[in-house]
Amino acid sequence: MLEVAAAATVPDGVAAIGIPVIAGVADEDEGGRAALEWPVRPDGVAGAATDAVRALLTDTPDEAWLHGQGFSAAKGTSLALRVASGPPSVLLLGLGPQAGLDLERWRLAAAALVRAAGEGGGTVALVVPDDPPGGALVEVAAAIAEGAMLGTYRFDAYRSTRTPGHVERLVVVGRGEWAEGLRRGAAAAAATAFARDLINTPAGDLTPRVLAERVRERLSGVDGTTVEVWDEHRIAEERLGGLLAVARGSAEPPRLVRASYTPPGQVTETGRHVVLVGKGITFDSGGLSLKPAEGMMTMKTDMSGAAIVLSVLAACADLRVPVKVTAIAPLTENMPGGRAQKPGDVFTARNGATIEVLNTDAEGRLVLADALSLASELSPDAIVDVATLTGAQVIALGKGIAALLGNDRALMESLQEAGDRAGERVWPLPLPDDYREHIDSEVADMKNIGRAREAGTIAAALLLARFVDAVPWAHLDIAGPARSEENSGYVSKGATAFGVRALLDFLAHYPAKGAAG
Ligand code: BES
Ligand code: MN
Ligand code: ZN
Repeated sequence: MLEVAAAATVPDGVAAIGIPVIAGVADEDEGGRAALEWPVRPDGVAGAATDAVRALLTDTPDEAWLHGQGFSAAKGTSLALRVASGPPSVLLLGLGPQAGLDLERWRLAAAALVRAAGEGGGTVALVVPDDPPGGALVEVAAAIAEGAMLGTYRFDAYRSTRTPGHVERLVVVGRGEWAEGLRRGAAAAAATAFARDLINTPAGDLTPRVLAERVRERLSGVDGTTVEVWDEHRIAEERLGGLLAVARGSAEPPRLVRASYTPPGQVTETGRHVVLVGKGITFDSGGLSLKPAEGMMTMKTDMSGAAIVLSVLAACADLRVPVKVTAIAPLTENMPGGRAQKPGDVFTARNGATIEVLNTDAEGRLVLADALSLASELSPDAIVDVATLTGAQVIALGKGIAALLGNDRALMESLQEAGDRAGERVWPLPLPDDYREHIDSEVADMKNIGRAREAGTIAAALLLARFVDAVPWAHLDIAGPARSEENSGYVSKGATAFGVRALLDFLAHYPAKGAAG
């Protein structure tokens, strides 16, 4: 992955220098043309940086020229300036208007820089102001590292010819303590990339056994972590009826990964504990309630939740998460083999509840039921589950925003705030008691589907809620945001690993003890 570092001056030999630019508010007298403001002034950054940039330019680009180039400093846009002789090239990076300038705009600016600098490899510099708008300096630094590292993310493990390289190093040039924020952003970006790699790996290669092994390898030698992998025998002994029911149709045995991180010096009795649960369907064919071909094409993505919570766990030490974290990931394929569960079958979940399976394609909630029971048994301070759970989530909120449901308003609010800071938006849906009858079964304690075309995301969450004992719990349905169909900003086509950075932010801000939240 791309490396990030801080420096006081622009290093020699850079391929490009990026300068963030704020768009002014459009002025009627100027025919609605937005004025551009340079946040970088000679007194605003290490003088050498600005001098270096000024020396390169053939002339000072005035507003009229910039507008003639069609550049209005809109967020995520870039414009190459005329330089006397390049390299380096000098790129203006749009941050959008001052109003509403947030961390996300810095991520997009950093991504625009590394994308515009192209495939030549090498180092690029980003000149930053002393007092950056949009957030505390440490947060802006982290955002820049995330945007740049994820902006160059590629999954080419399966290409026979090497795709051309990308920028290898970003140097952030400015005064102040940029290094710590860059380090944190790099850790969050690396966790995201690790999750994306797992999710993008074809399901034929990433079976439950392989996924468990990859996680074990990743965690080996990470301070403060332990990892346990349950095989099919242990899963049966532990009475994980939902995981077993889904796994029946597959030739591949299921696994359950349970990993934990304890911060250095934490006293178990007084320290807080958060359990993360992730849906790990390594391939979702729908089972006997088979999906159409079209709907199956992206279903290697159905283990996103598992990849996300396990990647988060692996990054807890780097991000100095102040609480104990456990990640639980039930892993299985959902296949229509000869021993597959049949519509109408009933199984008993770990907590003793019985579930009638009327549609084998509603499998995520079945494996999560058992995992949430395991989580509740640990009596943690909070449980957060992440799952590509329902097509209805995509209908309700689209691909840009995840659905958030749960039983604890304070927990949900802190997740929403973390999502806003991370640029991973989540929005609450209700969990109404009177909708519980949607999942009433003719024969069992509940059925695994609600009413046709009615509140599908809520019905799924209402089933999950029955497996959470009085523990604060939140559920993130990421069916839409888990995958992107285009390269844009710092997301590339394929897995997004949406949720990794929001969860890391949430955990990093989690009160170690004292007030709830
Ligand atoms: N993994 C799917 C949900 C999904 C759909 C994720 C599209 C990402 C994109 C889930 O297992 C599923 O199939 N859900 C069904 C449930 C239905 C049968 C009640 C759905 O939402 O259609
Ligand atoms: Mn399904
Ligand atoms: Zn699924």
